[in-house]
Amino acid sequence: MAADVPMMTTAEIRSAFLKFFEERGCKLFPSSSLVPDDPSLLLANAGMNQFKQYYQGKKTMKEIGATSCQKCVRTNDIDIIGSDGRHASFFEMLGNFSFGGVSKEQACAWALELSTEVFHLPIERLYFTVFTDDDETYGIWRSLGIEESHISRLGEDDNFWAAGPTGPCGPCSEIYYDMGEDVGCGRPDCAPGCDCDRFLEYWNLVFTQFDRQEDGSMPELPHRNLDTGMGLERMSAIMQGKTSFFDSDIMQGLIKLGEEISGVSYVSDDYEGPSRSLRIIADHARSVDFMISDGVLPGNEGRGYVLRRLLRRAVFHGRLLGVEGPFLTRFIDRVNELMGDAYPELTKNVALVRGIVSAEEERFSTTLDNGRVYLDEALSKLADSEVLDGASAFKLHDTFGFPIDLTVEIAEGAGHAVDIEGFNREMELQRERARANVKGDAWGTFNDIWVELSDALPATEFTGYEGCSLSGARVVALVANGERVAAAHAGDTVDVVLDRTPFYAEMGGQVGDTGVLLGEGIRLSVGDTKSHNGLYAHTAQVEEGTLHEGAVLTASVDEHRRALIKRNHTATHLLDAALKEVLGNHVNQAGSLVSPEHLRFDFTHFEGLTTEQLRRVEELVNREIFAAKPVVTRVMGIEDAKASGAVALFGEKYSDVVRVVSCGAEERPFSRELCGGTHVGNTAEIGLFRIVSESSTGSNVRRIEAVTSLGAINYLEGRERMLLETAEALKCRPEEVPSRVTALQQSLREANQKLKAALTGGSSDAIGRAIDAAQDAGGYQVVIAELSGLEGAELRNVWDTIRGKVDGACACVIATVTEKGTPALLAAATDDAVKAGFHAGNIIKAIAPVVDGRGGGKPTMAQAGGKNAAGIASALDAARVELGL
Ligand code: ALA
Repeated sequence: MAADVPMMTTAEIRSAFLKFFEERGCKLFPSSSLVPDDPSLLLANAGMNQFKQYYQGKKTMKEIGATSCQKCVRTNDIDIIGSDGRHASFFEMLGNFSFGGVSKEQACAWALELSTEVFHLPIERLYFTVFTDDDETYGIWRSLGIEESHISRLGEDDNFWAAGPTGPCGPCSEIYYDMGEDVGCGRPDCAPGCDCDRFLEYWNLVFTQFDRQEDGSMPELPHRNLDTGMGLERMSAIMQGKTSFFDSDIMQGLIKLGEEISGVSYVSDDYEGPSRSLRIIADHARSVDFMISDGVLPGNEGRGYVLRRLLRRAVFHGRLLGVEGPFLTRFIDRVNELMGDAYPELTKNVALVRGIVSAEEERFSTTLDNGRVYLDEALSKLADSEVLDGASAFKLHDTFGFPIDLTVEIAEGAGHAVDIEGFNREMELQRERARANVKGDAWGTFNDIWVELSDALPATEFTGYEGCSLSGARVVALVANGERVAAAHAGDTVDVVLDRTPFYAEMGGQVGDTGVLLGEGIRLSVGDTKSHNGLYAHTAQVEEGTLHEGAVLTASVDEHRRALIKRNHTATHLLDAALKEVLGNHVNQAGSLVSPEHLRFDFTHFEGLTTEQLRRVEELVNREIFAAKPVVTRVMGIEDAKASGAVALFGEKYSDVVRVVSCGAEERPFSRELCGGTHVGNTAEIGLFRIVSESSTGSNVRRIEAVTSLGAINYLEGRERMLLETAEALKCRPEEVPSRVTALQQSLREANQKLKAALTGGSSDAIGRAIDAAQDAGGYQVVIAELSGLEGAELRNVWDTIRGKVDGACACVIATVTEKGTPALLAAATDDAVKAGFHAGNIIKAIAPVVDGRGGGKPTMAQAGGKNAAGIASALDAARVELGL
């Protein structure tokens, strides 16, 4: 089919498209990250995402428009993926965009020109759709020479486009390529919009006119805009004469790997069974690679969950194909080979991606094994085509972490449906249980005194960036025991709200300030400061006088404590930057605590840090401290702040005007973050930074605790004290401690050896007594000894002692209970004693059964072990009998 279309690779199509629009005055933009800079969107799902603000008129550009090739992830059709030739979770969208600079006519004419002149698609295979009553676009296609029979009208489902529930949207017009009569459903009325593979929509032209609001209203945007999206994979299929995009170059590279790993052969028009699994693995692995490279980590909600689900489905389908061991990192490598040139972030982050993928794959394999046992058991109890109950499906989800779609997939494979309604009911019950566990009710918050007060009073003005003391602060409210009060007396604890204050209220991880409030005959000590809806509450104890609302006070923060806090806060920023430098850009702050004593920083990372990594992080932070770099704070618009590269907290909502804290040279700061906290003026003030611990706080989040300045000194002093005490105990100088400890260990080893030798040597009482009691057995002396605590092997040393002490021909039969409580026997003799008739092997053979053992040996030496230590005395008696004693 389509022999009249010239063959082009995916890479060639990508550059031809971008070049076409660049030549027509559109500015080329690189793809934005899959993690959008837009809280209303989970993952980048269209080329227009990064241009939202241009559509809204908040940003403008001098060029007539833009063009890009955008990485996209869409999982709303996850169940279809693999079952047809045109759906995927990851795809590249080629697009051109305009914000008032390009007319509808022009946009349509370009789309037609690119399709027919650059890609040489035959016009008779092209079909066009317009939105139901969009006569204007209908007329444009007609004026461009498209025949009426090739234009159809489709409704809102197909021809109205929006990136998300709110934001820019509008009617659209799509271009389809007819793959030929022999492809697809074969129905005579098959037409664009049909679910089959015959008419492939490869380009969508959206005329973005509206800005949908939270309330559903759709005001017009400032201009009539353009947003077009061409599916690169779909275009590759067309240009490579394939009906399915899984048969185009890049996807085939991945499917081939799947064939290699599983030994299963791919059949391109088989949409069920193993070929479907091969497509799913190829598609999902590609999404996984791109998502992690853009900083998404597996998790239980949001984009982390999307990632986890894709990764797990890929692993699961590997199992379906019979792949036993881990395999996903091989796909990561293959995706990088195929796409690393176009997306350097893949190769840059490969170590991270591989690490996360292996860890998650391993974790899921265990889940899969455990859940599979449970599920197989449950399924085996069902009659033919009986439905698996919701409670079992829920248990699999809740206890085994088994995603419901996997349960459905496995159950279906075994010929059973799953009671999804029952499953949902169980989920709802669990949610109710969770809700019931939350204390208090919603009214509690509405009745809160602070909500009332913050409605009535202006927010407190914070003056503490400039100085730690302020006179003329007015008391605007006093709150005690949850109620507003007019006055507070000596001994009372009260929350004091001031109109202005230098006290920092606990926020962004930084603890609240302490200090004093002073007035005429009044003195309060402030133990903490918190913000309630912007009102700063100084929790204070009245030490002297009576405080009334309206009083004017001087507010003084405990400067020493604040200085310690500032040092720890700036150090937290340096730590964040250093972690990003050492571990990679996937490091995101997940929580923090900044107190006078120490700092705690939680961040996303998938494994524990090595000693070497910790050392490098510490070194980097200290380097910045010792370089005495200025710390500069600027207040600016949120957009400028982000444009300057300032690190924003993920998922945090910022106001339009923000503070940006930079450590280091303005042009290239070591760290730049959006932050409302208080900071030192120069990194040198931090003095010294020391990591105290590194640990895990849950999957993929690590925690570092560290100390600075005085805290670091205290920490090091503590360590030094331990060293001094150790030295004192060892009676040596501190620098001699290591060698002294080594020497002590050595002499302890030697002492132990001596002790053992002594136990087995002649000085041991039992041995001495046995030697003294040696008996004549006819031409030689025989020593019979019952010992304990020695090991079988050590009995040979005892024999050496005996033969050294007894003159002339001698033999012995000795027994011991070992440390493990088992018996061990040994018989030995000098050559002369053997000549006189002693046979060690025979003796042992005869007496070993008495201790439930077996053994034997030469005439001069024989040994045995046994099980019954209680039989030792009888065994020795048996030996005496054997020897005729
Ligand atoms: N944004 C439009 C789409 O995704 C072009 O189809």
